[in-house]
Amino acid sequence: MTQSAQAISASMNFSGRKMDFGFDFRDLPHYWYDNDPVKTHVLNALSCLFLEGERIFIDSVRAHEHLISDPVLQEQVKNFIKQEAIHGNEHHLFSEYLDTLGYPATEIERQERRGRKIITKILPASHRLAITCAIEHFTAMFAHQLLTNPELLEGMDPRIRELWKWHAVEETEHKGVCFDVYQHCNLPYRRRIFYMLIITTTFLLRETQLLAVFLWRDKKLFKWSSLKSGFRFFWTKPGIFPLIWKEYIDYFRRDFHPWQHDNRELLEAWEAEHSNYKLV
Ligand SMILES: [Fe+2]
Ligand SMILES: [Fe+2]
Repeated sequence: MTQSAQAISASMNFSGRKMDFGFDFRDLPHYWYDNDPVKTHVLNALSCLFLEGERIFIDSVRAHEHLISDPVLQEQVKNFIKQEAIHGNEHHLFSEYLDTLGYPATEIERQERRGRKIITKILPASHRLAITCAIEHFTAMFAHQLLTNPELLEGMDPRIRELWKWHAVEETEHKGVCFDVYQHCNLPYRRRIFYMLIITTTFLLRETQLLAVFLWRDKKLFKWSSLKSGFRFFWTKPGIFPLIWKEYIDYFRRDFHPWQHDNRELLEAWEAEHSNYKLV
Protein backbone atom coordinates (compact mmCIF):
# COMPACT_ATOMS: atom_id res chain seq x y z
CA MET A 1 0.00 0.00 0.00
CA THR A 2 1.40 3.41 -0.85
CA GLN A 3 1.78 5.87 1.99
CA SER A 4 -0.26 9.05 1.97
CA ALA A 5 1.61 12.34 1.59
CA GLN A 6 0.62 13.25 5.15
CA ALA A 7 2.00 9.96 6.47
CA ILE A 8 5.28 10.49 4.60
CA SER A 9 5.52 14.00 5.99
CA ALA A 10 4.93 12.75 9.54
CA SER A 11 7.61 10.09 9.08
CA MET A 12 10.31 12.61 8.17
CA ASN A 13 12.99 12.62 10.81
CA PHE A 14 15.70 15.22 10.27
CA SER A 15 17.93 17.66 12.03
CA GLY A 16 20.18 20.60 11.14
CA ARG A 17 23.71 19.82 9.98
CA LYS A 18 26.31 22.49 10.39
CA MET A 19 28.58 21.28 7.61
CA ASP A 20 32.29 21.76 7.34
CA PHE A 21 32.75 22.28 3.61
CA GLY A 22 36.47 22.67 4.04
CA PHE A 23 37.04 25.46 1.53
CA ASP A 24 37.31 29.20 1.44
CA PHE A 25 34.96 31.15 -0.82
CA ARG A 26 38.00 33.19 -1.89
CA ASP A 27 39.31 30.10 -3.70
CA LEU A 28 36.31 30.11 -6.04
CA PRO A 29 36.64 31.31 -9.61
CA HIS A 30 34.90 34.67 -10.10
CA TYR A 31 32.24 33.07 -12.30
CA TRP A 32 31.95 29.82 -10.41
CA TYR A 33 28.99 28.53 -12.39
CA ASP A 34 30.03 27.36 -15.85
CA ASN A 35 32.24 30.44 -16.17
CA ASP A 36 29.00 32.19 -17.01
CA PRO A 37 28.20 35.62 -15.47
CA VAL A 38 24.43 35.23 -15.82
CA LYS A 39 24.21 31.75 -14.28
CA THR A 40 26.63 32.71 -11.50
CA HIS A 41 24.73 35.88 -10.68
CA VAL A 42 21.32 34.18 -10.75
CA LEU A 43 22.53 32.11 -7.80
CA ASN A 44 24.55 34.93 -6.21
CA ALA A 45 21.43 37.11 -6.21
CA LEU A 46 19.28 34.27 -4.90
CA SER A 47 21.77 33.64 -2.12
CA CYS A 48 21.42 37.26 -0.91
CA LEU A 49 17.69 36.70 -0.36
CA PHE A 50 18.02 33.68 1.91
CA LEU A 51 19.11 35.24 5.21
CA GLU A 52 16.04 37.43 5.69
CA GLY A 53 13.70 35.09 3.83
CA GLU A 54 14.57 32.29 6.19
CA ARG A 55 14.00 34.60 9.16
CA ILE A 56 10.47 35.24 7.92
CA PHE A 57 9.93 31.47 7.76
CA ILE A 58 11.26 30.97 11.29
CA ASP A 59 9.21 33.82 12.80
CA SER A 60 5.98 32.77 11.12
CA VAL A 61 6.29 29.13 12.20
CA ARG A 62 7.38 30.09 15.70
CA ALA A 63 4.26 32.25 16.05
CA HIS A 64 2.14 29.11 15.54
CA GLU A 65 4.14 26.76 17.74
CA HIS A 66 1.74 27.11 20.68
CA LEU A 67 -1.16 25.93 18.50
CA ILE A 68 0.51 22.65 17.54
CA SER A 69 -0.75 19.74 19.59
CA ASP A 70 0.98 16.98 17.63
CA PRO A 71 4.35 16.11 19.25
CA VAL A 72 5.83 14.85 15.95
CA LEU A 73 5.05 18.14 14.23
CA GLN A 74 6.37 20.06 17.25
CA GLU A 75 9.68 18.23 16.94
CA GLN A 76 9.79 18.83 13.16
CA VAL A 77 9.15 22.55 13.70
CA LYS A 78 12.09 22.70 16.11
CA ASN A 79 14.37 21.05 13.57
CA PHE A 80 12.99 23.14 10.73
CA ILE A 81 13.96 26.28 12.68
CA LYS A 82 17.40 24.87 13.33
CA GLN A 83 17.97 24.04 9.64
CA GLU A 84 16.78 27.42 8.39
CA ALA A 85 18.90 29.31 10.93
CA ILE A 86 22.02 27.45 9.77
CA HIS A 87 21.18 28.07 6.10
CA GLY A 88 20.73 31.78 6.73
CA ASN A 89 24.15 32.02 8.36
CA GLU A 90 25.89 30.17 5.51
CA HIS A 91 24.32 32.47 2.94
CA HIS A 92 25.30 35.50 4.98
CA LEU A 93 28.96 34.35 4.95
CA PHE A 94 28.69 34.05 1.19
CA SER A 95 27.26 37.58 1.01
CA GLU A 96 30.24 38.88 2.95
CA TYR A 97 32.50 37.23 0.39
CA LEU A 98 30.50 38.83 -2.48
CA ASP A 99 31.02 42.20 -0.80
CA THR A 100 34.78 41.74 -1.07
CA LEU A 101 34.34 41.36 -4.84
CA GLY A 102 32.54 44.70 -4.96
CA TYR A 103 28.92 43.48 -5.14
CA PRO A 104 26.37 45.07 -2.77
CA ALA A 105 25.38 41.74 -1.21
CA THR A 106 25.12 42.69 2.47
CA GLU A 107 23.43 45.95 1.44
CA ILE A 108 20.80 43.79 -0.31
CA GLU A 109 20.44 41.81 2.92
CA ARG A 110 19.87 45.10 4.78
CA GLN A 111 17.16 46.08 2.30
CA GLU A 112 15.56 42.68 2.77
CA ARG A 113 15.70 43.15 6.55
CA ARG A 114 13.80 46.43 6.24
CA GLY A 115 11.25 44.64 4.06
CA ARG A 116 10.90 41.83 6.58
CA LYS A 117 10.30 44.29 9.42
CA ILE A 118 7.55 46.03 7.44
CA ILE A 119 5.93 42.71 6.55
CA THR A 120 6.07 41.62 10.20
CA LYS A 121 4.44 44.86 11.27
CA ILE A 122 1.60 44.93 8.76
CA LEU A 123 0.76 41.26 8.25
CA PRO A 124 -0.64 38.87 10.87
CA ALA A 125 1.42 35.75 11.55
CA SER A 126 -1.07 33.51 9.75
CA HIS A 127 -0.59 35.52 6.54
CA ARG A 128 3.17 35.32 6.94
CA LEU A 129 2.78 31.57 7.31
CA ALA A 130 0.97 31.49 3.95
CA ILE A 131 3.92 33.42 2.47
CA THR A 132 6.30 30.90 4.02
CA CYS A 133 4.38 27.95 2.53
CA ALA A 134 4.58 29.55 -0.92
CA ILE A 135 8.33 30.20 -0.73
CA GLU A 136 8.97 26.77 0.73
CA HIS A 137 7.26 25.33 -2.33
CA PHE A 138 9.65 27.30 -4.54
CA THR A 139 12.67 26.10 -2.58
CA ALA A 140 11.40 22.51 -2.73
CA MET A 141 10.97 22.72 -6.52
CA PHE A 142 14.43 24.21 -7.05
CA ALA A 143 15.93 21.70 -4.61
CA HIS A 144 14.45 18.78 -6.55
CA GLN A 145 15.91 20.07 -9.80
CA LEU A 146 19.29 20.67 -8.22
CA LEU A 147 19.40 17.13 -6.87
CA THR A 148 18.15 15.37 -9.99
CA ASN A 149 19.15 17.34 -13.04
CA PRO A 150 22.77 16.83 -14.12
CA GLU A 151 22.34 19.57 -16.74
CA LEU A 152 21.72 22.04 -13.95
CA LEU A 153 24.95 21.16 -12.16
CA GLU A 154 27.07 21.13 -15.31
CA GLY A 155 30.01 23.49 -14.97
CA MET A 156 29.29 24.43 -11.35
CA ASP A 157 32.40 24.56 -9.19
CA PRO A 158 32.33 21.25 -7.27
CA ARG A 159 32.96 22.92 -3.91
CA ILE A 160 30.04 25.30 -4.05
CA ARG A 161 27.94 22.62 -5.70
CA GLU A 162 28.23 20.67 -2.43
CA LEU A 163 26.96 23.67 -0.51
CA TRP A 164 23.92 24.10 -2.74
CA LYS A 165 23.22 20.36 -2.67
CA TRP A 166 23.32 20.30 1.14
CA HIS A 167 20.84 23.18 1.24
CA ALA A 168 18.66 21.39 -1.33
CA VAL A 169 18.67 18.19 0.72
CA GLU A 170 17.55 19.97 3.88
CA GLU A 171 14.90 21.95 1.95
CA THR A 172 13.56 18.62 0.73
CA GLU A 173 13.63 17.06 4.20
CA HIS A 174 11.50 19.80 5.70
CA LYS A 175 9.35 20.70 2.70
CA GLY A 176 6.16 19.50 4.41
CA VAL A 177 6.63 21.20 7.78
CA CYS A 178 5.22 24.70 7.20
CA PHE A 179 2.46 23.28 5.07
CA ASP A 180 1.51 20.85 7.85
CA VAL A 181 1.48 23.69 10.39
CA TYR A 182 -0.75 25.68 8.04
CA GLN A 183 -3.17 22.76 7.70
CA HIS A 184 -2.96 21.92 11.40
CA CYS A 185 -4.10 25.48 12.21
CA ASN A 186 -7.00 25.18 9.72
CA LEU A 187 -5.93 28.23 7.77
CA PRO A 188 -7.84 28.95 4.57
CA TYR A 189 -7.06 27.57 1.13
CA ARG A 190 -7.73 30.90 -0.59
CA ARG A 191 -5.11 32.69 1.50
CA ARG A 192 -2.52 30.07 0.57
CA ILE A 193 -3.29 30.61 -3.13
CA PHE A 194 -3.44 34.38 -2.86
CA TYR A 195 0.04 34.56 -1.36
CA MET A 196 1.45 32.13 -3.89
CA LEU A 197 0.40 34.55 -6.64
CA ILE A 198 1.85 37.51 -4.76
CA ILE A 199 5.11 35.70 -4.02
CA THR A 200 5.49 34.45 -7.59
CA THR A 201 5.29 38.02 -8.87
CA THR A 202 7.42 39.70 -6.20
CA PHE A 203 10.06 36.98 -6.15
CA LEU A 204 10.55 37.02 -9.92
CA LEU A 205 10.70 40.83 -10.00
CA ARG A 206 13.17 41.04 -7.10
CA GLU A 207 15.39 38.27 -8.47
CA THR A 208 15.44 39.90 -11.91
CA GLN A 209 16.24 43.29 -10.39
CA LEU A 210 19.13 41.87 -8.35
CA LEU A 211 20.45 39.95 -11.34
CA ALA A 212 20.49 43.26 -13.22
CA VAL A 213 22.38 44.92 -10.34
CA PHE A 214 25.07 42.22 -10.37
CA LEU A 215 25.42 42.24 -14.16
CA TRP A 216 25.50 46.05 -14.25
CA ARG A 217 28.40 45.98 -11.80
CA ASP A 218 30.31 43.74 -14.27
CA LYS A 219 29.27 45.89 -17.26
CA LYS A 220 27.52 42.86 -18.71
CA LEU A 221 23.89 43.90 -18.36
CA PHE A 222 23.34 45.05 -21.93
CA LYS A 223 25.41 42.34 -23.62
CA TRP A 224 23.83 40.10 -26.23
CA SER A 225 25.67 37.15 -24.65
CA SER A 226 24.00 37.83 -21.28
CA LEU A 227 20.55 37.91 -22.82
CA LYS A 228 21.23 34.68 -24.70
CA SER A 229 22.59 32.95 -21.62
CA GLY A 230 19.66 34.07 -19.48
CA PHE A 231 17.14 32.90 -22.06
CA ARG A 232 18.86 29.51 -22.36
CA PHE A 233 19.12 29.02 -18.59
CA PHE A 234 15.49 29.83 -17.86
CA TRP A 235 13.78 28.44 -20.96
CA THR A 236 15.84 25.80 -22.78
CA LYS A 237 19.05 24.42 -21.20
CA PRO A 238 18.33 23.34 -18.54
CA GLY A 239 15.14 25.47 -18.80
CA ILE A 240 14.17 26.19 -15.19
CA PHE A 241 10.64 27.41 -15.98
CA PRO A 242 9.52 24.44 -18.12
CA LEU A 243 11.13 22.09 -15.57
CA ILE A 244 9.18 23.35 -12.56
CA TRP A 245 5.97 24.37 -14.27
CA LYS A 246 3.93 21.26 -13.49
CA GLU A 247 4.98 21.11 -9.85
CA TYR A 248 4.22 24.82 -9.51
CA ILE A 249 0.66 24.35 -10.77
CA ASP A 250 0.11 21.46 -8.34
CA TYR A 251 0.29 23.94 -5.47
CA PHE A 252 -3.02 25.45 -6.57
CA ARG A 253 -4.94 22.22 -6.01
CA ARG A 254 -7.16 22.20 -2.95
CA ASP A 255 -5.85 18.76 -1.90
CA PHE A 256 -2.18 19.61 -2.55
CA HIS A 257 0.51 18.41 -0.16
CA PRO A 258 4.29 18.82 -0.77
CA TRP A 259 4.92 15.10 -0.18
CA GLN A 260 2.56 14.07 -2.99
CA HIS A 261 5.80 14.51 -4.84
CA ASP A 262 7.69 11.78 -3.03
CA ASN A 263 11.42 12.20 -3.61
CA ARG A 264 12.78 10.60 -0.45
CA GLU A 265 15.16 8.50 -2.55
CA LEU A 266 17.19 11.67 -3.22
CA LEU A 267 17.75 12.11 0.52
CA GLU A 268 18.88 8.51 0.88
CA ALA A 269 21.24 8.91 -2.09
CA TRP A 270 22.76 12.06 -0.61
CA GLU A 271 23.17 10.46 2.82
CA ALA A 272 24.85 7.42 1.24
CA GLU A 273 27.20 9.64 -0.73
CA HIS A 274 28.00 11.79 2.33
CA SER A 275 28.10 9.14 5.02
CA ASN A 276 31.24 10.63 6.52
CA TYR A 277 30.63 14.33 6.05
CA LYS A 278 32.29 16.56 8.59
CA LEU A 279 30.27 18.81 10.87
CA VAL A 280 31.60 22.01 12.37
FE1 LIG B 1 16.76 26.98 3.83
FE1 LIG C 1 13.12 25.80 3.85
